[in-house]
Amino acid sequence: MPAPSDPHAETAVATEAEGGPTEWITREEVGVGPWEGPWPTDERYDPELLENGDRRNVVDAYRYWRRPAIVADVDARRHPFHVAIENFQHDHNIGTVVRTANAFAAAAVHIVGRRRWNRRGAMVTDRYQHVEHHADVATLTEYATERGLAVVAVDNTPGSRPVETAELPRDCVLLFGQEGPGLSAEAQQAAALVVSIAQFGTTRSINAGVAAGIVMHTWIRQHADLSTSW
Ligand SMILES: C[S@@+](CC[C@H](N)C(=O)[O-])C[C@H]1O[C@@H](n2cnc3c(N)ncnc32)[C@H](O)[C@@H]1O
Repeated sequence: MPAPSDPHAETAVATEAEGGPTEWITREEVGVGPWEGPWPTDERYDPELLENGDRRNVVDAYRYWRRPAIVADVDARRHPFHVAIENFQHDHNIGTVVRTANAFAAAAVHIVGRRRWNRRGAMVTDRYQHVEHHADVATLTEYATERGLAVVAVDNTPGSRPVETAELPRDCVLLFGQEGPGLSAEAQQAAALVVSIAQFGTTRSINAGVAAGIVMHTWIRQHADLSTSW
C-alpha cells in the first residue's frame, strides 16, 4: 500500500480560477495511487479505487473505502448535535457550515427555507454528511421536538447568553441566521436558549459560517470525547 499523504490536505483539484476564499489551491496530487500488492477482500474497499487510486478529500483511515461504507462508519459515531441555518435569501455560508459539520461529525445539517444552496464551499464534504431541508422554522422545530433536541439559536440579539459561559445542551440543534437579516424572529421564539459570541471590535457581527464553526467547537469542547478524534 502506498504511503498515505497528509490527511489534512485538500484533494479537490481546483484551479486558481475556481478557488474561493476558503479553499487552498494546490496543483499537487494528494491521496494515494493504485493499491500495491494483493487486494484486500473486505467489502468496504472499492475495486475502482483500488485499481485507480484514491484522491478524495477524506482522512487516510478511509482511503479506498466505498462512500456508503464511510458514511456508515461515521454514522456509528456521530455527535448528537445538529446544525441548522436559515436560507431564505440564498446564504453563501452553507457550504462552509456543511464542511465544518462534517469535520466535527455533526448528526445532520438542516437548511431552513430555500432548498437550493451553493455546494462549492462544502468541498464535496456534503457527500458524507446528512443534509436535510425544512420549508420553515416550524417544520424544523417539529423535527427537533420529536427527537428530544433543544433548539439553541445563535445570534447576538438582546437577551442572548454568552456562549463562552453558557452550557450547551448535549442533544440539540444549533440554529444560525443568514447574512444580512440574521436570525428570523420566528427562529428566536422557537429557541430554548439564545447564545451570542463575545465581540470586541467595531463590526456588528461576524460571518455566519465563522460563527457556526465557533459554536460547533464550543459544543465539542463541552461534550466530545477527544480521545476519539483523528
Ligand atoms: C452576519 S450575522 C447577521 C445579523 C446580525 N445580528 C447583525 O445585526 O448584524 C449572520 C448570522 O451569523 C451569526 N452570528 C454572527 N455574529 C454573531 C455573534 N457575535 N454571536 C452569535 N451569532 C453571530 C448569527 O447566527 C447571525 O444570525
